[in-house]
Formats: sequence, C-alpha cells, structure tokens
Amino acid sequence: MTTVLDVQRFKDEGKHFAVLTAYDFLSARILDESGIPILLVGDSLGMVMLGHPTTLPVTMEDMLHHAKAVARGARQALLVGDMPFMSYHESTEQAIANAGRFVQEAGMHAVKLEGGGRVVEITRRLTEVGIPVMGHLGLTPQFVHQMGGFKVQGKTDAQAAQILADAKALEEAGAFGLVLEGVPSKLAASVTHALRIPTIGIGAGPATDGQVLVFHDMLGLTTGKAPKFVKRYANLAEDIAHAATSYAEDVRIGKFPGPEHEYSTNGSAPAKDRAEVRYGG
Ligand code: KIV
Repeated sequence: MTTVLDVQRFKDEGKHFAVLTAYDFLSARILDESGIPILLVGDSLGMVMLGHPTTLPVTMEDMLHHAKAVARGARQALLVGDMPFMSYHESTEQAIANAGRFVQEAGMHAVKLEGGGRVVEITRRLTEVGIPVMGHLGLTPQFVHQMGGFKVQGKTDAQAAQILADAKALEEAGAFGLVLEGVPSKLAASVTHALRIPTIGIGAGPATDGQVLVFHDMLGLTTGKAPKFVKRYANLAEDIAHAATSYAEDVRIGKFPGPEHEYSTNGSAPAKDRAEVRYGG
C-alpha cells in the first residue's frame, strides 16, 4: 500500500507521480488497479458529481458518503479526503473532529486542507494526532468569492512571496505534500525547489513533483472547452452518448435483447451471477 513515506520517497528519488480524484467504488477500483498511487476524494465532487457551481455547498456528510465508497474500491492507493468548506474553519477542535471522521468512519489515510495562515496551526495539530495533512495553495476554490472568481494566483511578487512563505510554513508544520493549483509555472518551480516535501500541481506547469487531475476532466466526461491545464485522455462523454443512443435504437427496432440475453426455462443457471458481473468476480 502507498503511504506518506512512499510519497516522500518519490520526491527524494526524483520520481514524478500522478494523482487523480475519485468519488465512487467502481472508478476507485479501476484507478487503484491501474496503479495510481494517490486517490483524492476531492470536494470537486460538489461540481462534477452533484452539479453545484462551486465546491462551497459540499458538506462533511457528502464527503464521507463518497469517501466510504472510494475506500471500498481501493486497496493500494493512499486515500486523501478533502476537508470541505466550513469543516475546519471554526476551531482546531472542529478540524480534528472532522478529520478524525475521514479516518475513522471513511477509511481515509490523510486529509487535505486549503489555505495558509490559520491552516498552518491546524496542520500542526492534525499531524500531532496522527492524521497526515496535504496542503493546498494558489487557486484555492473554497476562496472563490474572495479571489473574485477562479483566477490564477501568485502573479504579483507579493502574492508569490506569500505563497512561498505559506508553503514553507505548512512543511514546517508537518504537511506531507502540497497541492499547488492555478499558479504560474515559475512560482511552482521555486516552491518545489524550496520544499523538502513533494508538490502536486494542477494548472501549475511541469516542475512540480506530482500532477493531479479531476477524474471527469481526464476522461473527457466534462464537456465544452477544457481549461488550459487539462489534458483529456479519453472522450467518455461522446462514448456514453453514443452507447446510450445505440442502446435506445436497438430497443426501438427489437435488436436488444437478442436470444443470447434470454434465460431459458429448462433450469440452466445463468453463466455469471449479477454480483459477479457488476462487481467483478
Ligand atoms: O477538490 C479537488 O478535486 C481538488 C483537486 C483539484 C486538487 O482539490
């Protein structure tokens, strides 16, 4: 199983690594069996799974529901639960209680928190109680209203200096890794070089130690023009639409179900039972 020590080793040995978001049992199992070392149950699920315009409405209960499903599907990957908006902002006690739920109830191995400042102290306390923390700086979607939209961060010298200072503080507080989202490549490179712990970029250029993409973006399930930082490795939205229309057409013209899909009356058992077909034997 991948642990936070392995993630540090990746950086120490100069091995770049991939991270993907995961939100359900079957896709987590596929990604896990494909050897993706870290699966992030991101609060992006609010947008790609639940249809919200931002991540702000996502609750702890939403996160735990999906995190539990991912934990049922994954065996090898390091599982990181994303602390949703307002689940760690009231007090350190609230942060510890909610991070504890990710570990105890949902089988996560670590949590991710957005921001610097007060989050540094929370990171220190979570690490002290044995819950590994992944930081997240730059374009932090939970600050969408404060940032005036989903905008690249760290473009000015002052912003860049603040991100670098927050990154060092999070490392010092015990974070085992750091997501850098939506920052100029040059800044991501200097943060990566300044830190001992690995950085994981999304929209942060090629210099970070790891890269993370949202599952739906990577597979082309999100439609329309992809953000600049996304590479689509499949076009599943098109494939699903094609499969659905083909199925509907087959039903309309009586081509499905065919004889091979029928059960006979002579008592022979179906070749595979439903659980085996659905969950893999
Ligand atoms: O919620 C999420 O999926 C994330 C990643 C994009 C880093 O925070």
